[in-house]
Amino acid sequence: MSQNPTELDLDRKTALLSGLNMWSSEPDEEAGFPALVLSDGPNGVRRQKGEADHLGVHRSEPATAFPPGAALGSSWDPALVRRVGEALAVESRALGVDVLLGPAINIKRSALCGRNFEYFSEDPLLSGVLGAAHVEGLQSGGVGASVKHFAANNQETDRMRVSSDVDDRTLREIYFPAFERVVKQARPATVMCSYNKINGVYAAENHWLLTQVLRDEWGFDGLVVSDWGAVGDRVAALVAGMDLEMPGNGGVSDAEVAEAVRSGRLDESVVDTALARLRELTGRVRSGAPVELDHDTHHLLAREVAGECLVLLKNREGSLPLTPEGRIAVVGEFAETLRFQGGGSSHVNATRVDTALSELRAQLPDAEIDFARGYDTTRQADAVELREAAVALAAQADTAVLVIGLREADESEGFDREHIELPGEQVELVRAVAAVARRTVVVVLNGGVVTLEGWHDEVDAIVEAWLPGQAGGGAIADVLTGRVNPSGHLAESIPFRLNDTPAYLNFPGEQGHVRYGEGVMVGYRYYETADVAVRYPFGHGLSYTTFEQSGFQVTATGEDTARATVTVTNTGERFGKHVVQVYVSAPKRPVSSPARELRGFSKVALEPGQSKVVEIDLDRRAFAFWDITRDDWTVAAGRYEVQLGENAHDVVAVQPLDLVGDLLVAPLTLDSTVGAWFGHTTVGPVLTEAMMAGMSEEQAAAAAESQDAMRMVESMPMRQFLGFLPTPIPAEFLDQLMTMSRSSEPVAS
Ligand code: BGC
Repeated sequence: MSQNPTELDLDRKTALLSGLNMWSSEPDEEAGFPALVLSDGPNGVRRQKGEADHLGVHRSEPATAFPPGAALGSSWDPALVRRVGEALAVESRALGVDVLLGPAINIKRSALCGRNFEYFSEDPLLSGVLGAAHVEGLQSGGVGASVKHFAANNQETDRMRVSSDVDDRTLREIYFPAFERVVKQARPATVMCSYNKINGVYAAENHWLLTQVLRDEWGFDGLVVSDWGAVGDRVAALVAGMDLEMPGNGGVSDAEVAEAVRSGRLDESVVDTALARLRELTGRVRSGAPVELDHDTHHLLAREVAGECLVLLKNREGSLPLTPEGRIAVVGEFAETLRFQGGGSSHVNATRVDTALSELRAQLPDAEIDFARGYDTTRQADAVELREAAVALAAQADTAVLVIGLREADESEGFDREHIELPGEQVELVRAVAAVARRTVVVVLNGGVVTLEGWHDEVDAIVEAWLPGQAGGGAIADVLTGRVNPSGHLAESIPFRLNDTPAYLNFPGEQGHVRYGEGVMVGYRYYETADVAVRYPFGHGLSYTTFEQSGFQVTATGEDTARATVTVTNTGERFGKHVVQVYVSAPKRPVSSPARELRGFSKVALEPGQSKVVEIDLDRRAFAFWDITRDDWTVAAGRYEVQLGENAHDVVAVQPLDLVGDLLVAPLTLDSTVGAWFGHTTVGPVLTEAMMAGMSEEQAAAAAESQDAMRMVESMPMRQFLGFLPTPIPAEFLDQLMTMSRSSEPVAS
């Protein structure tokens, strides 16, 4: 029986609540606290045994680099992401890692965020569903997850200090739901608080965030760990609910905590509570049992996963898949040296890397495949010479396959991009090759979204490969040859220009503040509502087969829940996967509403000719908005549209759904508007009658006719209105009416 932690010496207790070093917690085996190893994450294990840093500088032990979040997001497949989590658990345990720092589920607010490659999506539902699957997979293997970075950490610029100034509704509807879903559904062992402030208060010191919302409202029962170095005021952080500070800082902050307890500023029970959570974590994550790790199997899994994530954006006249014979000119340094992961703390020392060129050669033995480098990412070689050699090769070929993308130096943790353009020499290369090649196929490798303008219309096919992980070369070949039928769909919109993006005017902020001025209108919510055209909408993705969706129906399953049903048929000749996407469009309500919001989705696999019925349940939250007048979710009454979308822009079927909405008591006060008083179902008629009774016949007739005058005063608070009346309304009568209004009344619109 180990010692009861509350009986430990105070200095011992405080020492346990901060790291021993960069990656380990402080141990006290006797008291039941082994040294827990926490390592990055999220898409591979970055276990450093030698020199340690948290910015991806020093090498780590070899591990499988699975596709990062940007790619996984495009899979729209929680079952697949769960399998990645399971594999990560095996790798973690083999390397002695107890908590793998991920998934990273922040919303892609701006295309420029340097860490977008790590994040899943611009949509909270998609991010939450995939995040929960990652956690479930990882934790089923005995390894704790650390869901990060909580919260409103959507940029790298000034990330350690900036205040994300976000209104409550936007936090609740856009930046919180993915975390909320993961917490409620997958019970993560830990949540990592972010570096930034939220409305002026550091996440690490934010009691509202870490205790009221996370624990009291969502029921989080794990441990909150700091992002590396995110704690300024350790005492305030403990009070806020930030349990474990990482990494350790040589005992400086431990002493501050002990001193606070001794001087009576801090109740020791706060320390005990955090300690109890740390002890509980120990019980949840350490299995100790050895595991079998087979890197070959995981490499194959990484390839399969990447194949599900690639998005076929464009395919003119069936240019893809490639035919097995003929001449193919493969162009681009990245075809030979794959760009497959992002920079910073998530950087993995891959066990091996497939290249698209060798994999294409292996899969197309009857084709003549030549290679030209086309561009040089180090910019040492002569760009014109490289381009001309590529053009000469492409002119002889039946198909030119260009593999282009962002260089590792173009995007990373730690800084944001300044534009969304591809390197200029690559754009020139694509244009020059497309001008001579019979057919041009482009594969793009990038973590953050890039604009395709300047060359999009000149090429025949485009595959968005994101950063596909270490087996991405094989996956690219699989999709180009048709061995894998592409089924990825965009988890973020591809804009025409940076200037079109919703956060353009409010990113990355100034003077220590970034104002989330676009509110809930993030990503496609903005493009669809403001009618701003994009190159490819959220949800877009092509296949080598065709699908038909029929019989779309929506039935209410409760007062504010429904089920959407649709039959999907594979009408083509190949096996393929389709993503059913269900959006909801709200009626007129007290808050501005996005044109539509993704409320359910399902990826379905179909043999040629096969049909499946897909059912998608829509819960109350699919119809609710965050109501700041009540600090709660409200469903407004009215006719909703449930829409079946090919993507966020192309709606193919619509069904109405009438909801009675929440019946809320909205008592009248003198601050309520004249419109609310006269429009009140019980008070309105009584008030009207009383006022008419006090008027001459002439006045009453004029008042009844004067609709315009009524409109002018409708928004006036009753208190002011009373002052303008020729005959005062007795205060007693008004009191009676206000009492009467305390009966049930639908929420005012
Ligand atoms: C990153 C985290 C990471 C941690 C440890 C921080 O700089 O923001 O995502 O888990 O370092 O490497």
